Amino acid sequence: MVPPGDKSISHRYAMLAGIAEGTSELSNFALAADCHSTLGCMKALGAEVKVDKTSVRVTGRGLRGLKGRWRALDAGNSGTTIRLLSGILAGQSFTSKIAGDESLNKRPMKRILTPLREMGAQILARDDNFAPLEIRGGKLSGIHYEMPMASAQVKSAVLLAGLFAEGDTSVTEPAPTRDHTELALEEFGAPIELHGRTARIHNNGGIKLNGRKAEVPGDLSSAVFFIAAASLFPDSTLHLQGVGLNPTRTTILDVFTRMGASIQMLSLRSAQGEVIGDIAVKGAQLKGGVIEGAEIPLVIDELPMLAALGPFTEEGIEIRDASELRVKESDRIAALAENLRRMGATVEERPDGLSVRGRSAGTLRGAEIEPHGDHRIAMAFAVAALAAETPTTIRDAECAAVSYPTFYDDLTRVAER
Ligand code: S3P
Repeated sequence: MVPPGDKSISHRYAMLAGIAEGTSELSNFALAADCHSTLGCMKALGAEVKVDKTSVRVTGRGLRGLKGRWRALDAGNSGTTIRLLSGILAGQSFTSKIAGDESLNKRPMKRILTPLREMGAQILARDDNFAPLEIRGGKLSGIHYEMPMASAQVKSAVLLAGLFAEGDTSVTEPAPTRDHTELALEEFGAPIELHGRTARIHNNGGIKLNGRKAEVPGDLSSAVFFIAAASLFPDSTLHLQGVGLNPTRTTILDVFTRMGASIQMLSLRSAQGEVIGDIAVKGAQLKGGVIEGAEIPLVIDELPMLAALGPFTEEGIEIRDASELRVKESDRIAALAENLRRMGATVEERPDGLSVRGRSAGTLRGAEIEPHGDHRIAMAFAVAALAAETPTTIRDAECAAVSYPTFYDDLTRVAER
């Protein structure tokens, strides 16, 4: 099977194409509703956007050519849209408003307000932390920012603002996070330098991005639901094609392998600095184990699937140092504990993670799952449901469309084989 285009990379290509000169042709663009929120914002800001299924043509307005508008930009459910775009909006000569749905408007924004204000941006936020944001764009100055947390979205917001700032802008992250923004900036022609955990935009006033052709790799975070499903059934084999295998994303494959999964990466190639390849998975007995520390930011989006696999593993699964999960599309720690218990699992919920007992605690039964509007919770429990003893119903199952609109069709097709 072929997973849909990567959500993180699609956002970045859409934004950079919108502030580049000329036309970009993006292929295998994500079907995810989140990425279409980004396209909608770029269109509202004046970029020309044409969508034909997964092919997207964006004619950019150049770095200084976006247009302000009265109505608030709509980021939908997408944290990446609002946080990254805020970096771009901070450098404009107009004031913008940006907001999202109920879930997004409850997620913390202070993490981007702090560095963007340090660069000179004036931003108003509800309770000084939440969207709607009112961003009064203006002159920015480069800063060096030591990030207090490992977040690719914060790093990216600062680097994007750096395109509009006077002087150099650099960011040092406390632990590595996905580096798609750095790679994409380089590909679109921005002067970016990378030294270990520091990325720097060198701005002498002459930055110009160039529109280009770019192929979006398949989304490993979406592929993980199928890797998990195939791993659950000892006789299964599954071949996933065209998956993004950027080393800042593949830690999840190391975690699976450590837990006893049978995974092979094949046919590696590169596109726009990103690695693309195939993944072959065979069913296996999963041991389970602990996931903690510096691994957490690198597998943050895959933790719901890992936790939901816990009851099927020998030793169970324990997740530590992951309090960030509480401020994702839902409080994922609470949502995982609640729904695992609905299926009969034994779970201990902690402030920064959870511990899920393994097979010895008994088998899982089907249940009614409440995903709290969170796509990854809905998809994780759809996979767990495949191995439960009785049928499962997922309420509001369509929320999967936030990252993967054809998920249930694809899962059905894979499970029937
Ligand atoms: C993302 C970064 C991560 C991740 C999110 C996508 C990105 O968020 O959870 O789904 O595209 O940069 P944080 O930066 O908040 O960790």
